[in-house]
Amino acid sequence: MERVIGIDLGTTNSCVSILEGDQPVVIPNRGGYKTTPSVVAVTEAGKRLVGHIAKRQAITNAENTVYAAKRLIGRKWNSPQVKNAILTSSYSIIEGPHGDVRIKLRDKTYSVPEVSSMVLQEMKIIAEDYLGEPVKKAVITVPAYFNDNQRQATKDAGAIAGLDVIRIINEPTAASLAYGYGKDFDRTVAVYDLGGGTFDVSILEIGASGVFKVISTTGDTFLGGEDFDARIIDWLVNGFQQEHTIDLRQDRMALQRLRDAAEKAKCELSSVKETEINLPFIISTGRNEALHLQRTLTRDTLEKLTDDLVERTVEICRQALEDARLHVDEIEDVILVGGMTRMPAVQAAVAEFFGREPNRSVHPDEVVAVGAAIQGAALIQDRHDMILLDVTPHALGIMTFGSNFEELIPQNTTVPTSRTKTFTTSRDDQTAVKILVMQGESKRATDNELLGEFILTGLRRAPKGHVEIEVAFEINTDGIVSVHAKDLETGQAQSIQVTATSGLTADEIKNMMATAQDYLVERRSDEQFEGAKQEAETLMAEIERMFPEIERVVGTADFGRDAINKARSTLEKARAAITAKDTQAVKQQVEQLQRTQRMFKGVVARG
Ligand SMILES: Nc1ncnc2c1ncn2[C@@H]1O[C@H](COP(=O)(O)OP(=O)(O)OP(=O)(O)O)[C@@H](O)[C@H]1O
Ligand SMILES: [Mg+2]
Repeated sequence: MERVIGIDLGTTNSCVSILEGDQPVVIPNRGGYKTTPSVVAVTEAGKRLVGHIAKRQAITNAENTVYAAKRLIGRKWNSPQVKNAILTSSYSIIEGPHGDVRIKLRDKTYSVPEVSSMVLQEMKIIAEDYLGEPVKKAVITVPAYFNDNQRQATKDAGAIAGLDVIRIINEPTAASLAYGYGKDFDRTVAVYDLGGGTFDVSILEIGASGVFKVISTTGDTFLGGEDFDARIIDWLVNGFQQEHTIDLRQDRMALQRLRDAAEKAKCELSSVKETEINLPFIISTGRNEALHLQRTLTRDTLEKLTDDLVERTVEICRQALEDARLHVDEIEDVILVGGMTRMPAVQAAVAEFFGREPNRSVHPDEVVAVGAAIQGAALIQDRHDMILLDVTPHALGIMTFGSNFEELIPQNTTVPTSRTKTFTTSRDDQTAVKILVMQGESKRATDNELLGEFILTGLRRAPKGHVEIEVAFEINTDGIVSVHAKDLETGQAQSIQVTATSGLTADEIKNMMATAQDYLVERRSDEQFEGAKQEAETLMAEIERMFPEIERVVGTADFGRDAINKARSTLEKARAAITAKDTQAVKQQVEQLQRTQRMFKGVVARG
């Protein structure tokens, strides 16, 4: 049976899980950590770094280190979120060829799905190292509030990483699956997921028959730990400016150090009441002297700096309840997900709003990946004892005359779903109809997210000028939208051209997949070389250590001199193979070295 991994592709951290039998296992990376920073960097030598190793070098290589790429995925260049990210990022964000966003690292530019694919590929490798076999299939999670462009871009990222993404599921829904897995109860629950970059809240009914039904979901894909950090950074930067009239934001390295210090302080303040932020030599003045930054941040101050952010999450919870048409008393359990829910002020706000202590039975960092793994296993085993009914987070519709938004599929409709609408050509000579498909909650079309411009072409010229075209709008279980059209009279399908998306073209994806594959081959061969080199070096050191003893025992005999000379030449050959980075040759020398070592040991034992 083919296996499937569940990947929580987070803004800050990613996590991978798999079901072993019935038991979900969170797979540790080589360092033994169960989550891996979603950080990607390119070194001066052009080498790609992902995870902890990339995070560790972020300060000295700030311009070429990408974090929080998820905040940019599937967004258009001209969106306010991208403008905001440009102001606060230490790496450079530029405009792509499709009105999309690209990231510049060293001399190359990367699309955002490509950067995310590097994180996904790393998670795939972590799983493969653990399982000792290749993994192809994956379920990847996304924030429930992600729109179609963001979902599609995440799916593209999976494809680039060489994964067959069998399903995209919503993070809070995944969390509820993990929470309800193997338990036999009927319960209405709220999932409150505050991560590094996004906030989601979902209200679900979990049924004893294994049905997980989402009733409502809402959120903010630009609200998370990053924003809490930004408040601390502002506080530090402004204080420094007042004291020294120097703007630390102008210095990328200083900004990266501030980011690290702010996040660290925030996390510490979840367990202590005050903490010292100490950044010596943060910047040098024009007069050749270095300035230091030292301040004490208390939990009280942090809470004041961020109380509106916490309040926004509470407002969103209120909205979710309203959308679900439920009273707060009807919520029987509140599940906390995401690292930010460790903040006491967040926990207190949630407890106050729901009028109950949140459930602490799930691991906030791992539960989403575990849910994805559970769903993945259920999908490939084709099991029917677990049914997941999710909803679309945004209304789907089209732009009509006067830039109005005509809603076709309302928010919180269970997916998969579809609606049809009939369009009529109006003029006699009309052979094309343009349809703008959008997602959003505003009555004004321009406030909503444009998913694509579909032009129905090749329309038949009707004798009386009126051709009726039926257009079907579908949202599948991944929450991804597709549109089909047919001529009602002839039943003929109409061709649809997509002319405006921020996504990648099929060709671009193909090229990126090839690059990712090249990287994998290179990385595996690097690893093989490193492995062989280590083995050789250990043997070489042992042999070197035995020489004096060998000399003493057999050095005067001819056969002894022969053996010693041969051993020396083997060592030389091994050294040359290592210098030449020739994995095959190193492996050959390892065999020789082992033989030499055995022989030396034999001599020593007899002598
Ligand atoms: N002890 C703590 N106190 C406060 N915040 C914390 C603590 N531990 C982690 N965090 C914060 O939690 C956030 C990361 O949470 P998490 O790993 O759940 O996010 P993510 O899954 O990467 O992001 P998202 O789900 O938004 O895409 C970071 O902002 C981190 O600083
Ligand atoms: Mg998360």
